Amino acid sequence: MNNRQDNQRSVPGITHLIAIASNKGGVGKSTISTNLSVALHKIENKVGVLDADITGPNIPRMMGISPGSLASEGEGLRPVEAHGIQAVSLGLVLPPDTPVVWRGPMIASGLKQMLFDVQWSELDYLVIDLPPGTSDVSMTLAQDVMLSGVVIATTPQEVSLEDARKAVAMFDKLGVPILGLIENMSSEIFGIGGGKNAADDLGLDYLGSIPLDKDIRVGSDTGVPLVAQNPKHPASITYIEIAQAIHEKCLMIKNETSSFLKRELT
Ligand SMILES: Nc1ncnc2c1ncn2[C@@H]1O[C@H](COP(=O)(O)OP(=O)(O)OP(=O)(O)O)[C@@H](O)[C@H]1O
Ligand SMILES: [Mg+2]
Repeated sequence: MNNRQDNQRSVPGITHLIAIASNKGGVGKSTISTNLSVALHKIENKVGVLDADITGPNIPRMMGISPGSLASEGEGLRPVEAHGIQAVSLGLVLPPDTPVVWRGPMIASGLKQMLFDVQWSELDYLVIDLPPGTSDVSMTLAQDVMLSGVVIATTPQEVSLEDARKAVAMFDKLGVPILGLIENMSSEIFGIGGGKNAADDLGLDYLGSIPLDKDIRVGSDTGVPLVAQNPKHPASITYIEIAQAIHEKCLMIKNETSSFLKRELT
């Protein structure tokens, strides 16, 4: 925490900002972001989800919100609520199937607008769904925004773990706490246990393993995250256990930060 920068901003009214990162594409960041948001809500938190995948936004479809429906009130933009979650995505502003052809600096400024210019209501958690890769959006977030931490998502295969390790190294270098690692799509096909081994090797908390399950995919495609549709489903129970672990860790980080600040000020 001590190598964090002075210019990192928090978002007024939002207690914890957590980002879901993997570096590798297609390993389930957006699916985890939506289900984890609903799971955090199920354990009595006020939650928002921010789609930081500016050029490939999937949150509107996964949350069942129609494109073009970002509510605007007076001069400011307001999130759209779905399944008890406040959602913001560029995909809610643009007509369907419109490509975003922005270069790096525009992407970074688009992200900052969605964070700082949207009229978020008071939230315990804002879950940020990162795009693949470790450039633009991930760097902007890590350097300019006061994140509570990052959750690393990976599938069990070595090719995904390899990319996950690079994401861990980048966030470590920039002093962003890593809340832990989730193994996604555990199965006979992709393997089981690679995530746990990688977490152990990297000295990270292993948060749990989400199975490769058709119900999860259908939930994402139909706009009803599995945890919202069936909270008793074994995979939903795992998401809720992971949400609980993340919640406890964030509270611990917050307490440590306030005692650190108290010590500095006295
Ligand atoms: N545990 C799972 N079981 C079954 N399907 C899953 C699971 N996790 C994700 N999927 C499916 O895999 C596909 C890719 O997931 P998703 O879009 O969440 O990945 P991503 O990491 O966000 O991708 P990108 O890097 O392109 O943003 C989606 O169709 C999603 O529904
Ligand atoms: Mg995604």
